[in-house]
Amino acid sequence: MVNSFAPLRNLPATLERLRLCYLFSMAGPFSTPNGLVTTPNGWGIGIDAPAGLWQAQIEPGRGVDWMIDLRSDTVTKPTSGMLRAMIEAPVGDDVIDIDPTVAKLQERVADLLAKESAIFMPSGTMTNQIALRVHCSLGDEFLCDADCHIYNYEQGAFAQLSGLAARTVQGIEWVMELSQFQELIRPDNDHMVRTRLLCLENTHNRGGGRILPHENTVTLCRWAHEAGIQTHLDGARLFNASVASGVRVEVLARPFDSVSICFSKGLGAPVGSCLAGSKEFIAKARRARKLFGGGMRQSGFLAAAALYAMDHHVERLAIDHEHAERLAHEVQSSSNLSLLGDRVDTNIVIFRVDPTWGTAGEFVAALLSLGVQAMAFSKQSVRLVTHLDVSSDQIDQACHALRSIASQPAGALSTR
Ligand SMILES: Cc1ncc(COP(=O)(O)O)c(C=O)c1O
Repeated sequence: MVNSFAPLRNLPATLERLRLCYLFSMAGPFSTPNGLVTTPNGWGIGIDAPAGLWQAQIEPGRGVDWMIDLRSDTVTKPTSGMLRAMIEAPVGDDVIDIDPTVAKLQERVADLLAKESAIFMPSGTMTNQIALRVHCSLGDEFLCDADCHIYNYEQGAFAQLSGLAARTVQGIEWVMELSQFQELIRPDNDHMVRTRLLCLENTHNRGGGRILPHENTVTLCRWAHEAGIQTHLDGARLFNASVASGVRVEVLARPFDSVSICFSKGLGAPVGSCLAGSKEFIAKARRARKLFGGGMRQSGFLAAAALYAMDHHVERLAIDHEHAERLAHEVQSSSNLSLLGDRVDTNIVIFRVDPTWGTAGEFVAALLSLGVQAMAFSKQSVRLVTHLDVSSDQIDQACHALRSIASQPAGALSTR
């Protein structure tokens, strides 16, 4: 793959076109109405239409500076400090026996979450699904919120891979009350699945990064334990919850038997999640990790990025939250847009586009034409996520783009 190329104006246009065709074929471009092109791997190419020449503004590994990518906090690229930490990491073979940097990360996470043990895995989907598999057996059921990631965005892997059933509860603004659960534990009866586990998510992705009220979490988990079922937390963005609420991650994790955290979201690492719990639980999770194909060899290179992220990228999440607040304020100022819920707690902003303006897909296309990448979350809703690769100036630009698009009367935008 070509990593970089020089300013193109010095070269014949045809040659440049050839070179760009090559890049396109390697990366698969998505064109936008005004001629901007982005590639799935974060590369970008612009077209200078008046001059008739192609123009590229690509910094190797960092994407293009005129694109503001607010689709997710997973899009960040490793910083130079993080890359250095990765290159310098001592590694072993974490499947045969041990990788020293992975071991260091696992110990650090277990300490941080005040659990006996932890295990490193490639993704949050895997840590969640392995937690479900270890807590439950074939034919068991778990309780969860109808909007949670485990239920909506993991392909029903709990059924596909572990033979489990899910029983959902619709939270009110993503918060479920004890009264909604009390009748849900199935009686011990040959006709029924066995209720084994309660799963919660903090912060709540589909809930626009909402932080679960801590007292509510404590109450639900206490009830679950008294009822003889286990508890699992999908804490993909637990550090966001901690920084925004001022409550230590250890305290947020305490009510749960197992906790999953991700390094590749707001923390800015390229890959990786950890699952924490009792020694016995993690020993079983290690067996399941191999079964699920998640055993990694010199994974210390990735664990080093996670360690670096925990050292350097936790406190700064407050900046992302302030950026999200500014975007939310812009949304709230527009009569054509309405914020999901009444506030933004952390780094995710979800808003509804009034159908008289158009669809979420049209809104996202219009944003893209102004250099802002967003995600159409449903037919009428759009998601923006702030992260460490978005600067304060870019948030100003994104706010400006939101304002100018939302204020256009329906049908007036050239891109629509
Ligand atoms: C709340 C939540 N849980 C789990 C995941 C899955 O993480 P991964 O993409 O690493 O599998 C995500 C991904 O965005 C998420 O938002």
